[in-house]
Amino acid sequence: MQQIEQDQQKEQEITQNEMPDLIINPYEVVNNSKKQIDYDKLIQSFGCQRIEQSHIERIQTLTQKPVHHYLRRGIFFSHRDLNQVLDAYEAGKGFYLYTGRGPSGDSMHVGHLMPFIFTKYLQEAFDVPVVIELSDDEKFFHKSETTLEEYQRYGYENAKDIIACGFDINKTFIFLSSKYAGHMYHNICKFQHAITYSQLRGIFGLNESDNCGKVAYPAVQAAPSLSSSFKHIFGKDEVMCLVPQGIDQDPYFRMTRDVCYKLKVPKTGCIHSQFLPGLHGFGTKMGTTDPTSAIFLTDTPKQIEEKIKKHAMSGGGMTKKEHQEKGADLTVDVPYHYLRFFLEDDARLEEIRVQYGKGVMMTSEVKKELITVLTKIVTEHQQRRALVTDEMVEKFMELRPLNNYPPKKNN
Ligand code: TRP
Repeated sequence: MQQIEQDQQKEQEITQNEMPDLIINPYEVVNNSKKQIDYDKLIQSFGCQRIEQSHIERIQTLTQKPVHHYLRRGIFFSHRDLNQVLDAYEAGKGFYLYTGRGPSGDSMHVGHLMPFIFTKYLQEAFDVPVVIELSDDEKFFHKSETTLEEYQRYGYENAKDIIACGFDINKTFIFLSSKYAGHMYHNICKFQHAITYSQLRGIFGLNESDNCGKVAYPAVQAAPSLSSSFKHIFGKDEVMCLVPQGIDQDPYFRMTRDVCYKLKVPKTGCIHSQFLPGLHGFGTKMGTTDPTSAIFLTDTPKQIEEKIKKHAMSGGGMTKKEHQEKGADLTVDVPYHYLRFFLEDDARLEEIRVQYGKGVMMTSEVKKELITVLTKIVTEHQQRRALVTDEMVEKFMELRPLNNYPPKKNN
């Protein structure tokens, strides 16, 4: 136990000393450099593993499907125990996917969709069950801007956006943690028993005047990593879990994995994504306080066009002449970076990288392309969301078996 504590302290020190421009934890992501975060260094300081070409090939072979461009382009770039999860799958034991969202408000932006788009791809490619936690309790404890009932309502509203990503109703279970926690309380207890207050403080930076909910919550995010938290899906089986997540969530799962070790159950697998920066540039964030910082899922085509034209930070030259001479600085250019996330066509993306980088293509053209891509994504999302009824949300939240567990024998 002491060893674990020391390791965690060491990890934190490394992060703070080696990356002075960067703060990353579940409650704060601050990048004070104007550039893309150094994700290689982050891997080192967090002690996770890079996703290698060999993982990508293995996933392609196992699923017999082209891998998602988030994987091909290193947007999901890091992992813990991915091979162990794939081993379980290959051995016919299957695994399940667990991800979540803290419902902090009604409006979600395109960045919020990433873990869900990716989880949906994995669900389809591997045909495995998905569980999704809406941590209304977490936001209630940490944001405390409104009532628990209101955070629950945000949870239901966000569930509609999540469902609109295309999750299969027969293979997906969505729950609000304030409502479902009772069913996994036995596992919450085990996590709470295994973690000391001083460890929590080390990981999450809590202090004496924080409400008790902040101390209790991490176990609520950890518990869904154990298949015994979902008896209606897995019965008594012990099934491995893989958690697609933004890398800021890793501290929760580092803690989870330490406890798995103590409980002698398989450690939770993790697969981490990079962050989508705010429109104003690397080092800025997307948020509701500044509507021009992000593309929201409720934006109209006109709003999308205006935001990108006026507010997306460009790495192009100041004048046409300078641009043609020097080309665009792609390390600070937001429109190009967004295309990496949203334009699926690899050949076209490469063409833009080369032509724009050389100054042959102008910023206005790249922005135009991004406007087209995002407008399509957002309007199609809105159409799908309009079809999600309250009854469907209830159905996703119903305690029931899922029809792809147990896995079919593959031979
Ligand atoms: N803590 C996450 C947030 O604030 C929400 C969350 C709950 C989550 N469970 C999760 C995220 C599991 C990733 C994986 O958004």
